[in-house]
Amino acid sequence: MADQPPPVRFLTDTKIDQERYSKIKEKFVKKYNCEPQFYARAPGRVNLIGEHIDYCGYGVLPMAIEQDVVIAVCATSDSKLSLSNTHEKYCDFECSVGEFEIDKSQPDWHNYVLCGVKGMTEFLTLTNPVGMQCVVDGCVPSSAGLSSSSALVCCAALATMQANNQSRSKREVADMCASCERYIGTQGGGMDQAISFMARPGTAKKIDFNPLREEDVCLPEGVAFVISNSCVEKNKAATSDFNTRVVECRLAMQVIAKSEGLTWRECKNLADLQNKLKLRLQDMDDLVQKHLHKEKYTKKEVCEILGVSAEELAETSLSANTLHVESFCLYQRARHVYSEALRVEEFQQVCKDVPSDAAIKLGKLMNQSHESCSKWYECSCTQLDDLVNLCIQSGAIGSRLTGAGWGGCAVSMVPSPQLTQFLEKVKDGYYMARKLESVVIEALFATQPGDGAAIYLPS
Ligand code: GLA
Repeated sequence: MADQPPPVRFLTDTKIDQERYSKIKEKFVKKYNCEPQFYARAPGRVNLIGEHIDYCGYGVLPMAIEQDVVIAVCATSDSKLSLSNTHEKYCDFECSVGEFEIDKSQPDWHNYVLCGVKGMTEFLTLTNPVGMQCVVDGCVPSSAGLSSSSALVCCAALATMQANNQSRSKREVADMCASCERYIGTQGGGMDQAISFMARPGTAKKIDFNPLREEDVCLPEGVAFVISNSCVEKNKAATSDFNTRVVECRLAMQVIAKSEGLTWRECKNLADLQNKLKLRLQDMDDLVQKHLHKEKYTKKEVCEILGVSAEELAETSLSANTLHVESFCLYQRARHVYSEALRVEEFQQVCKDVPSDAAIKLGKLMNQSHESCSKWYECSCTQLDDLVNLCIQSGAIGSRLTGAGWGGCAVSMVPSPQLTQFLEKVKDGYYMARKLESVVIEALFATQPGDGAAIYLPS
């Protein structure tokens, strides 16, 4: 599956929302005076478990959601890239397709498109990429932890590949998209891009990295997965919180590696550290407790332990937007990562074995995951913690934040017969109570594992 290119389908062949595509086409014709040659589509995702561990080299367990980004495209013989968005709040943008800067200080929507275009152009070593007229239509809630930014990057990369008559495997394209999204400055892992390309309807996926692999995970029957948006917006590219966590994990790995006598500069991440030490995942927590202290590490202390100057540390361990960070929580972050990686393994095993209490077991893992994210990783916020608690009180067997956190969505596992009652209770307890009733339709919904990225041709 992952070795196949993203599928090319006909618009009429599929169960897609014809009305939506007609509207996109209408906007396209109005804007460019011609019809789109094709539509690229890439979905957002909800991560069921395995938060903030993909960039540490550990497997995660997401599924694609129905909400997606669609780009209508017409390739042109000039080398102009024209971008227009169906949502009026997003301004039009134009540049030369082979020559542009990505402004990291401004995570504007068009910069994510540029990441995908630049990444694919370089990946295919295109010396003369074709120009593209594009209309973008996205319905993944933004800054909500449902991967709206990666859906946009993946969709733009896929559009660029198709416009240039090229075809590469889903695995290659997903890997490339994970790298090129870093042009925006955040050092994310590869989860969002992998699931966007590799998703299949009806199944969640266990995604592993280095090399990128995927496996179907059949979710138990009789439960529904519900997404609820806390409506606290968090754009991970707009602050240094996300990269600070990436750096803290890297420093934790480097300090443990050094304490264990390894060449720490050669260790890539916390998973690589485990491999180099030839230890089991279960043994890693002991090592964290042995080598790391609970108190924050100052930059000076880290430099002393690793035997480097502040300048060298900046090169080996920091990112551009974390150069100013003066203290780091290493113990807490590493404990989260190793325990979360174990929970992912357990979750997958329960889905394979399906014991009679499967749903209870999965729910417990989800709850533990949230607690670890909130307490050890400190990537939740008061409203999100409140929402997760309310979801449990309203009948969820498990509930947790999903995506990068600090706001955004919770995902809850709810027994199907109680779904209606659950939705009512959460609506009243969170949205009505906060006067958010106008957004509740987009903010609170049950979801199914959706399909992956594809190209659609008008018939
Ligand atoms: C973002 C990143 C992902 C992952 C999650 C947290 O969505 O893009 O790679 O790190 O945060 O699990």
